[in-house]
Amino acid sequence: MKQTLFALSLCFAVWSPLRSADLSSFVILTWQGDTSTTITVNYHTVGSADQSRVYYDTESRDGTPGAYRFQTEGSSHQITGLDDRYIHVVELTKLVPGQTYYFITGDRENGFSEERKFRTLPRDGSPIRFVTGGDMGIGDLPNRLLRQAAAQEPNFAMIGGDIAYANGQLSNIGIWDTWLKAWSEYMVTPDGFTIPLALAIGNHEVRGKYDRTYREAPFYFGYFAQNGTGSFFRRQFGSDMVVYFLDSGHVTTHEDQVPWLDRNLRLDQEIPLRFAIYHVPLYPSHRDYTLRGAEAGRKHWGPLFDRYILAVAFENHDHTFKVTHPLFDNQIADSGTLYLGDGCWGRGPRSFNVEPRWYLKDYASVAHFWAVDVADGSARYRAIDDIGQTFYVLPEDSDGAVEAAEVFQTIPVNYAIDPRTVRVEPLLRDGEFLDRESIEVTVHNRAAVAADAVFRLEVQSPLTAEPDEHRFRLRPQEEKAITFELDTIEPITLAERPSGQVRYTIDYDLTDDRVRFEGQQPVVVESAQPVPIRSLPPVIDGNLDEWSDLPVVFEKPDQVTSTVKADPLAGTGDLSLKFGIERNEEFVFIAVRVKDDTLSLIDAPIAWNQDGVHIWINTYPRGDFDDDPLFALIPGATLKDGYFVRVETPPADLQSACLITDSGYDCEIAVPIAYLENEWRKAGGQGKPEHLRFNIAVNDKDGTDGPTVRLFWRPRWDEPGDYTWSGVFKLN
Ligand SMILES: [Fe+2]
Repeated sequence: MKQTLFALSLCFAVWSPLRSADLSSFVILTWQGDTSTTITVNYHTVGSADQSRVYYDTESRDGTPGAYRFQTEGSSHQITGLDDRYIHVVELTKLVPGQTYYFITGDRENGFSEERKFRTLPRDGSPIRFVTGGDMGIGDLPNRLLRQAAAQEPNFAMIGGDIAYANGQLSNIGIWDTWLKAWSEYMVTPDGFTIPLALAIGNHEVRGKYDRTYREAPFYFGYFAQNGTGSFFRRQFGSDMVVYFLDSGHVTTHEDQVPWLDRNLRLDQEIPLRFAIYHVPLYPSHRDYTLRGAEAGRKHWGPLFDRYILAVAFENHDHTFKVTHPLFDNQIADSGTLYLGDGCWGRGPRSFNVEPRWYLKDYASVAHFWAVDVADGSARYRAIDDIGQTFYVLPEDSDGAVEAAEVFQTIPVNYAIDPRTVRVEPLLRDGEFLDRESIEVTVHNRAAVAADAVFRLEVQSPLTAEPDEHRFRLRPQEEKAITFELDTIEPITLAERPSGQVRYTIDYDLTDDRVRFEGQQPVVVESAQPVPIRSLPPVIDGNLDEWSDLPVVFEKPDQVTSTVKADPLAGTGDLSLKFGIERNEEFVFIAVRVKDDTLSLIDAPIAWNQDGVHIWINTYPRGDFDDDPLFALIPGATLKDGYFVRVETPPADLQSACLITDSGYDCEIAVPIAYLENEWRKAGGQGKPEHLRFNIAVNDKDGTDGPTVRLFWRPRWDEPGDYTWSGVFKLN
């Protein structure tokens, strides 16, 4: 069965969404070597071309191929799995530094591009300007920022990873096409110069994000000729600056770049300005300081940055604006490396912890890029937003810094509190009616500053709540439990899903400000459904004949998510799912029947991007909570061939099978109770767990190029420990 399935799936070709006429506008300039005497032209055709050629001259020839004095032949290649797309790479060499060149690409069969021009970098010490940022994506905001960046008339641009947000998936070729079109169109200066680009790799270039190989970043390596399949490299720009493009653990580890980086930094000591650019920050502004990639960067690269004194490390990934103090030896110092970031060149800005971080000098929630002027061996840095406002200038005594500081006062800082701050205990009840109940709320101030809190429980008649509100002050790190009494003036059944809202405000005392958070969390009373005990275990083969009943049916899911925003249910009308959960002494058995008339399967299973069932299961109220599912069941595969999402070494006796049927597919899985109990104990649970928390989603993708729609039985689990997002079964 499996062989047939995979053979069939190989027949799907990945589609090319744009016609060749559209592709001729994609012209990306990169460098594979010297930035003053070479340029590499990257362009695309649909279908092969008998040549990969650039015609060029130091004067405009209006696009007439025969009129250009020079031409260079390059080569073309394909990305494995993309049938139609040919990428042409032509490197022009022996160019004159600081010179303007006019060029066209193409051939008679596919047509020629419009004439463009570029200029090589000067190398005589004349000023250089570049723009940089990361985390771009596609859409209106990146487009506005690109236009503002081009308006700065930079000599070149650098992106610090997370470029198109295609995740290395071939089916996301359309995202790249949109990105390439926008870049080709907007990154042209007012004087008409196409702006060359140098790029570092980010997690969204790579299938699997971290610790992968170059093969899992097909677009990054296939579309931008820079350094072959090497993910880190050095480029010099003019006489005064050099940049190290580093890989923050995506296809090369931090550690593996150390000898190379050490050697080059040593050789480059005479160059006045040494910069690094990479994706994951050493000093994150939004994510945790203990983020794995941040720790690896501080451990392996930090000492080198200190020893050879970088001017600036351009950091990304966190989608904020940040400026650190000068840092040396992981401390604030009079002179040290400045870390500028944090990758917000198109993605929406993120929030900050209420508690300030010791290394951050300034920060804000604003989409932006940096424009950097290098002259006479020093640099001036300007942060610019999507309407072209310069809101931050370094050094503080340089031109425009005072005016920018005034603008900076108007730029918002969005704060967020730790999502674990407020916890409303769930009410799992076995009876039919709601009794008088105590609602317990735990408030844990996880910041290093004090806070004032006001909590209320709001309910609808016939429910009542007492007291009206709790007001209290929390010291730093203090945890406090409060209780509301929920009652009813007339009987209400659990089947009516009685509910209320805990609403709160928490005011944190910051040194120069008070920050208020308003929030709410639902109180849901739910009956925990029993897990029937079976005397005979089912054979885990995907045949569901041994199951008398699959009692939970969801034709109307609680939540639908889709890779396309519009009309998420399009194409899923054929889909329904039912499941059952039973147990014996050793296992929890789950059976799932999916009706789906068009199966979309791929030969190398990628759980997120094909048909299949995703299962979340853990013990409650403690357990291994994560917003990623524990397993993905792939039609036609056993668990070994399938996809165990989060567990590196699955328990040996865990079994699953998924059979393709006439109407869809049937899955069975046996989860060892010992495994669940172990997770329960690891999370601090005492004795035996009484409840299972469970969720299931089904992916429906019609055709390999269609969007993946995920239908969730209960809404996806975004908040660890949040009961209201769950389904609960009673184990004992
Ligand atoms: Fe990222």
